[in-house]
Amino acid sequence: MASLFTLPVTWSAALLAQQKLPRRPIPGTDDSLPVIGLGNSNAFRQGDVPGSTALIKLFHEQGGAYVDCSGDSRFVVANVAGSLGIGNDLFLGTYFTGDDESQMTENIQRLLEATGKDQLDLVHSYPEFAEPNWDMFRKWREEGLTRYIGVARHHEKFYGTMMDMMETGTVDFLQVNYSPLETAADQQVLPMALDKGVAVTINRPFINGEFFKRVRGHDLPEWAAEFDCESWAQFSLKFILSHPAVTCVLTETANPKHAIDNIGAGFGRLPDEKTRQRIVQYLNNL
Ligand SMILES: NC(=O)c1ccc[n+]([C@@H]2O[C@H](COP(=O)([O-])OP(=O)(O)OC[C@H]3O[C@@H](n4cnc5c(N)ncnc54)[C@H](OP(=O)(O)O)[C@@H]3O)[C@@H](O)[C@H]2O)c1
Repeated sequence: MASLFTLPVTWSAALLAQQKLPRRPIPGTDDSLPVIGLGNSNAFRQGDVPGSTALIKLFHEQGGAYVDCSGDSRFVVANVAGSLGIGNDLFLGTYFTGDDESQMTENIQRLLEATGKDQLDLVHSYPEFAEPNWDMFRKWREEGLTRYIGVARHHEKFYGTMMDMMETGTVDFLQVNYSPLETAADQQVLPMALDKGVAVTINRPFINGEFFKRVRGHDLPEWAAEFDCESWAQFSLKFILSHPAVTCVLTETANPKHAIDNIGAGFGRLPDEKTRQRIVQYLNNL
C-alpha cells in the first residue's frame, strides 16, 4: 500500500486503500474476474523483472487477477508470479499460435511450473489462425491444461470470424477492441457475446495511447464527477465498463501510478446510457 501515499488523496485512492477491485461473473460458471486487467506491458516485453514485479505486486494487492501476455512476456509474468507466490491468484491469459503442438505443450508445462498452477486459465489465438488452433485448444481444455479458450483481436475486419466462433460455441472468451473512440464492437459483436454467454475482455481502451493525445490540453468535463470519474483514463475505462457485455478491461501500462489510476476506474458509479452518448460526443468534438 505504500505506493498509494505518493498519489494525491483522491476519492478513488481512498477507496483503493480499503477495498479490492470489484469482480464480474464469467458467464455460465461460478467463477468471476476483477473488472480491470493488465495488458502485455512494456515491462514484461522488455524482460524488466524489477519493473514487472512492482507492477504485478501492486495489481495483486488491489485485487487484480487477469494478466494478458504473449511470446516471451508470459514467462516474465509467470516467473514473477511464482517468485511472489501468487501464481494461483492470477488469471493468466496467453496466446498460442501455429501448429507445433509439442513446442506449445512444452511451453504450457514451463508456465505451470513457473507459476505453481495446475492448469492455465485462458489460452487464446487470433481469428486468422481459426483452425487447427481451436481443435487443439478444445483438447487441452478436455485434458485440463486450460480452463478456458478464446479468440482475441483488435480490428473490425476480424469481427465476422469472431462472431462465427461465438455462434458455433467455439470460444468461452472473446477479446475485442472497444472504447469511446472505437465503438464498432457495440453494433453486433458485444450484443452477440451477451446473448451467447461469452465472457468479454476489452483491448485498446486507450487506442494504444492515441486517446491521451486526443485529450491532451483539455480539462475533464465537470459532469465526469457524476460517475465518479477523476481522470481521462477513467473517462474511457468507465465508458467501457458500463457496457453490460464487458467482463474485464485490459489496460497496458508500465507505470505504477497509471496502474493505480486505471484500477480506480473499477470503483464507484458508472455512466448511464445518456451519459455514455455524451462521452462519445464530447470526445468526438475535441
Ligand atoms: N489480441 C490482440 O490482437 C490485441 C491487440 C491489441 C492489444 N491487445 C491487448 O490489450 C492490451 C491493451 O491494449 P493496447 O496495447 O492497445 O494499450 P492501451 O491500454 O490502449 O494503451 C496503452 C498506452 O496508454 C498509456 N497509459 C495506460 N494507462 C494510462 C493512464 N492511466 N494515464 C496515462 N497513460 C496511460 C500507456 O503508457 P504508460 O506505459 O506510460 O502508462 C501506453 O502508452 C495489450 O497490452 C494487449 O494485452 C491484444
